[in-house]
Amino acid sequence: MIGVGDMVLLEPLTADSFLENLRNRFDHNEIYTYIGSVVISLNPYRSLPIYTPDKVEEYRNRNFYELSPHIYALADEAYRSLRDQDKDQCILITGESGAGKTEASKLVMSYVAAVCGKGQEVNKVKEQLLQSNPVLEAFGNAKTVRNDNSSRFGKYMDIEFDFKGDPLGGVISNYLLEKSRVVKQPRGERNFHIFYQLLSGASDETLKKLKLERDFSKYNYLSLDSAAVNGLDDAANFRTVRNAMQIVGFMEDELHSVLELVAAVLKLGNIEFKHESRCNGIDESRIKDKNDLKEMCELLGIEQSVLERAFSYRTVEAKLEKMSTTLNVAQAQTKARHKVMGVLDIYGFEIFEDNSFEQFVINYCNEKLQQIFIELTLREEQEEYVREGIEWTNIEYFNNAIICDLIENNQNGILAMLDEECLRPGTVTDETFLDKLNTICGEHQHFESRLSKNSKFLTDHSLPHNCFRIQHYAGKVLYRVEGFVDKNNDLLYRDLSQAMFKANHNLMKQLFPEGNPAKVNLKRPPTAGFQFKASVGTLMKNLQTKNPNYIRCIKPNDKKTPHIFTDSLVRHQVSYLGLMENVRVRRAGYAFRQPYEPCLERYKMLCRRTWPHWRGPAREGVEVLMGDLQVPHEEFSYGRSKIFIRNPRTLFFLEERRRQCLRDLATLIQKIYRGWKCCSRFLLLKKSQVVVAAWYRRYAQQKKYQQIKSATTVVQSYTRGWQARKLLRELKYQKKCEKAATTIAAYWHGTQVRREYRKFFRANAGKKIYNFAIQRIAQKYFLGLKSSLPSMSPIDKSWPVRPYVFLDGVHSELRRIFHLWRCKKYRSEFTSEKKAVFEEKLEASELFKDKKTLYPSSVNQPFKGDYLEISKNPKYQKLSSTVDEKVLLADVVNKINRANGKGTARIFLLTKKNFILADQKTGQVKASVPLPDVTSVSVSTQSDGFFALKLREGSASAVKGDFLLSSEHLIELITKLHHVGVTAADQEQLNVDISDEFLVQFKQDKVCVKFIQTPPKNGNGASCKRRNNRLLEVSVPLTV
Ligand SMILES: Nc1ncnc2c1ncn2[C@@H]1O[C@H](COP(=O)(O)OP(=O)(O)OP(=O)(O)O)[C@@H](O)[C@H]1O
Ligand SMILES: [Mg+2]
Repeated sequence: MIGVGDMVLLEPLTADSFLENLRNRFDHNEIYTYIGSVVISLNPYRSLPIYTPDKVEEYRNRNFYELSPHIYALADEAYRSLRDQDKDQCILITGESGAGKTEASKLVMSYVAAVCGKGQEVNKVKEQLLQSNPVLEAFGNAKTVRNDNSSRFGKYMDIEFDFKGDPLGGVISNYLLEKSRVVKQPRGERNFHIFYQLLSGASDETLKKLKLERDFSKYNYLSLDSAAVNGLDDAANFRTVRNAMQIVGFMEDELHSVLELVAAVLKLGNIEFKHESRCNGIDESRIKDKNDLKEMCELLGIEQSVLERAFSYRTVEAKLEKMSTTLNVAQAQTKARHKVMGVLDIYGFEIFEDNSFEQFVINYCNEKLQQIFIELTLREEQEEYVREGIEWTNIEYFNNAIICDLIENNQNGILAMLDEECLRPGTVTDETFLDKLNTICGEHQHFESRLSKNSKFLTDHSLPHNCFRIQHYAGKVLYRVEGFVDKNNDLLYRDLSQAMFKANHNLMKQLFPEGNPAKVNLKRPPTAGFQFKASVGTLMKNLQTKNPNYIRCIKPNDKKTPHIFTDSLVRHQVSYLGLMENVRVRRAGYAFRQPYEPCLERYKMLCRRTWPHWRGPAREGVEVLMGDLQVPHEEFSYGRSKIFIRNPRTLFFLEERRRQCLRDLATLIQKIYRGWKCCSRFLLLKKSQVVVAAWYRRYAQQKKYQQIKSATTVVQSYTRGWQARKLLRELKYQKKCEKAATTIAAYWHGTQVRREYRKFFRANAGKKIYNFAIQRIAQKYFLGLKSSLPSMSPIDKSWPVRPYVFLDGVHSELRRIFHLWRCKKYRSEFTSEKKAVFEEKLEASELFKDKKTLYPSSVNQPFKGDYLEISKNPKYQKLSSTVDEKVLLADVVNKINRANGKGTARIFLLTKKNFILADQKTGQVKASVPLPDVTSVSVSTQSDGFFALKLREGSASAVKGDFLLSSEHLIELITKLHHVGVTAADQEQLNVDISDEFLVQFKQDKVCVKFIQTPPKNGNGASCKRRNNRLLEVSVPLTV
């Protein structure tokens, strides 16, 4: 514990030690300190990690003194006595501006929200309660020189709970909003947050709809020098506020209406007026630039002329003008009784350089709160001693009731004077009001004025003439009277409210109900001061019915910075908050008191007789305990329900003993706990081991079982296979046996039957079957042959394939027969001429086939005979006339010159009787040889056309010797020559010699004609050359 957590236990108690204790704790981040049940809170100006959910859990359901001081302990105490003892609670948070009141109230609310019941509905209510803060702060908080988020209104929130302690809802009352801030802000301060938030955070589209621009400098109401605040993100806050408004229950159109109103206010600020003198001499105000007015009217749905008129003229009535204030008074609701926890966060005591009506009423409110504090703590404390029957000597403390009286007294209180002035006919000014105060309150010991009755301050220059000073409990405050009367009147001209009521804008209409012409009320509305006094009165009454819980907020420095603790500033606050008196009263008699039950519960472990259980009444238990501990009698007293301990030292002694005892107990608990833990761990391990072993065994057995199972399956399958094969073998054998038996039986029967029937079919059956089969085959063969006979052409060599080997002979014979028949058919179609031609060809074949190379080329050539058409050609007319027989052949041949072997063309004519050689050109017969003189013809075996006609020796023709000729139609010529010999009866058959060397008789010489083969030449013809007397060489080119 840093320093002393509860100031009551501070030793020695002086202002310095008090301050030192606060500073010591503040330096160690302990911002909360108790005075009994009062919590002193120092603003740390930085976020500390002491508001986590873990902290909430730590403080939940714990006794106030058990843990180090915390605002959560107070909130928990309040909530528990509300929930468990049915006592309505109020939490009074007081302190200067910037001391942390609003933050404290939020902490209390969030703590209560965290610890109370849960559930969908409850959570929604909680959320709405918590989210009301951002909305209220946006519209009611502003940056001031003292606080960047200063609440410019007082707030009292009643949170209602059901019997279980679940929140049902809340009622928020607000007090005296600083309206003047809208139009004017002191230097270095801002207007209400919402204006800046709207311009920074709204989307372009929204701004367009609201006819606004993002630029602050466009609006007269927004102070520019301090528009941006460090650590304040207006844009993000705008989103938070929008979201919060939705959660709290604003519909989208309502939200928009609110924003429209905000925009309209900004526009309103831009409207400038100018003076204009009218002819009747009365001044009138005129609007300079009507654009803003026009846009404002469009936003609110007001006719421009109506508003313009309302701004420019004022309807003066004979009676006093109407006025209205919008001060919200705590609502009176009649409904089922619920438990209530009130949280009061109201402006702190304000002492500015220039204090006006607002500061006056704010400070009045603080006086009242101090009153209630005195009433409920100091007086209550002393009354408790009396109640408990303890001997008591009263402690003096400053009671500020006298100051409250100076302000609120109905006859001669300052507020009453002010009201009187406001209602008085005739000229009323702030000065007349001050005069009145000087006369009426001048003698009051807390009232100071330059012209007060006792003229005590006539020479006091710190007190200007237009001011008065009040000695508040927290110090002297100088008030400037200027504006008191006007502000108290809080006038709103009826023309304006009526103009506003005419707006086609629901929210606007609701805000100015007094503008409704149907409800014109000529009665003067109560003054602001009166209303405030009344609402403070109601608030005080309300608070007095509840159990108070105090949070006294202290501001450690003026710089809004962490870690700085300004002694003088804190000392001043400690002094005017009466904290020292508070401690003193609590300590004067008894520093500490506690009901017997919790006291016994807390210290019973210090005595064997009371530990662990005391069966008798708690007081007796405590007496036994104190006796056992040998605490001197003068150190404590027994009250009716509580024990009162005089000196903190005694409490420390008890606490120290308790701590030691706790340490021993902790060791014991630790010992038992460790033993238990080890034991249970062992048991757990053992249990786990059994489980593991069981599982393992099961697994092993399962595995073994699977192995056995699969092995069994294998063995089984082998066995079954073996058995099946065995059975198959047996069955096969059986079947074989059956089959064999059947075969044997069949053979046996066959034998039997054959034996029996052999005599019937053995002799003929084979032959018959054979014949039948042969017939069938032959029939099939012939029919097949008929359909597949080759063509009738004798040269067609094709013949169907033989189907059966045994038909081989028949097949070739039939082929031969068919061929012969086909030839016969072919021949039968011949004419006699054609027949003769073929006979000639046949003869040629017999003569030359396979003997002379020239032969094959002649086969295709028809034997024309008369190639020269001698009878027709007139050139040969003479020649033909010499031939009286039919010319069988007429052709041009070459007669080979015997001397050089060169050829000379001659006409060769063949008749039945002779052949004639004639000159080709003239047709003159050169030689005519009767055929019987020709004994033989010699030709070569080669492809040449040379032939030698050998003449009978001694005949007339043979005089000149044999003829060596060459013809292109050699084969035809020789054949015809031969044929003539064959057919003529009187002739011998002509010999045809075919040899490559033969002798030819040239006159007397026999010359050998030799045929040699030469490589093919271009000329392609055979050439003849005389080699010598005996040799004539014929070169025949080799035919390819
Ligand atoms: N417990 C806290 N932890 C951290 N910061 C705090 C705490 N309390 C207050 N502050 C800081 O101090 C500032 C001022 O606190 P707060 O607004 O609660 O003052 P206030 O007493 O309500 O002043 P006013 O009377 O002007 O409304 C806060 O904005 C916050 O920055
Ligand atoms: Mg505040």
